[in-house]
Amino acid sequence: MMSDRLAIVTGAANGIGRAIAKRLLDDGNTVVVVDIDAQQGAALAKGLGANAYFKLCNIAEEDSVQALFDWVTSEWGFAEVVVNNAGIIKDNVIWKMPTIDFDMVVDVNLKGTWLMCRAASHAMRSNNRGRIVNIASRAWLGNPGQSNYSASKAGVVGLTRVLALELGRYGVLVNAVAPGLIDTPLTQKLSDDVREKLIQAQPTKSMGQPEDVAHAVSFLCHPNTGFITGQTLYVDGGKSIGAGI
Ligand SMILES: NC(=O)c1ccc[n+]([C@@H]2O[C@H](COP(=O)([O-])OP(=O)(O)OC[C@H]3O[C@@H](n4cnc5c(N)ncnc54)[C@H](O)[C@@H]3O)[C@@H](O)[C@H]2O)c1
Repeated sequence: MMSDRLAIVTGAANGIGRAIAKRLLDDGNTVVVVDIDAQQGAALAKGLGANAYFKLCNIAEEDSVQALFDWVTSEWGFAEVVVNNAGIIKDNVIWKMPTIDFDMVVDVNLKGTWLMCRAASHAMRSNNRGRIVNIASRAWLGNPGQSNYSASKAGVVGLTRVLALELGRYGVLVNAVAPGLIDTPLTQKLSDDVREKLIQAQPTKSMGQPEDVAHAVSFLCHPNTGFITGQTLYVDGGKSIGAGI
């Protein structure tokens, strides 16, 4: 049976987004898997069954986001849940970073998330309900080699706080989840040496799993969760607390 609660998850073809899509489906939502990776995205939606759909969309492009929401409006009326998870990294120290790597990261991580939030806000306002969860990163606190990425994720935290203020009166809750080191294709690209160093820097001495992030998103999107908005929930094994003694 189709659920009447529609959840959009961006960047859902792989990694954390994939786990979020699976979890929100298990929670009883109908799920739209949104990604630029048509092969993985379509395969995932097929595997998830009748209550999952794949939509090709580049969140960094206004027309692409508009086309996604036109389809949602015509087929569903509105998406009650929007999880903005799609994100990329292009790491380097600032003195070696080409402008294009700054632009690409900010375009996807910040502008793309903003475009999705703006598109989602119209129907959420008129329906007087909705949940937006933006996937930020613990790195918004600062991480050497990630001036573009940290700035984009700091922007996502600021965006989340403003939207909580603007949309609260319309029954829309807007929160961010800030993952730390999570085992996904993104972090599997790191060398074994770097991965091990990063793991040893975690208070838990372990990496998080995509399902740990999905569980936090599930909580924030759950119909029973109320009165929590504008917050950033860290799923980072305690790394954001600081270095310790
Ligand atoms: N993996 C980590 O340790 C970690 C830590 C903190 C935050 N995050 C954040 O979590 C999110 C997911 O990361 P991940 O590790 O699963 O990454 P991933 O690379 O495994 O998956 C990202 C997905 O986003 C899609 N995508 C990229 N650009 C897109 C665009 N313009 N439009 C639509 N889809 C696009 C990709 O095709 C891919 O399927 C990102 O926002 C990332 O910044 C990840």
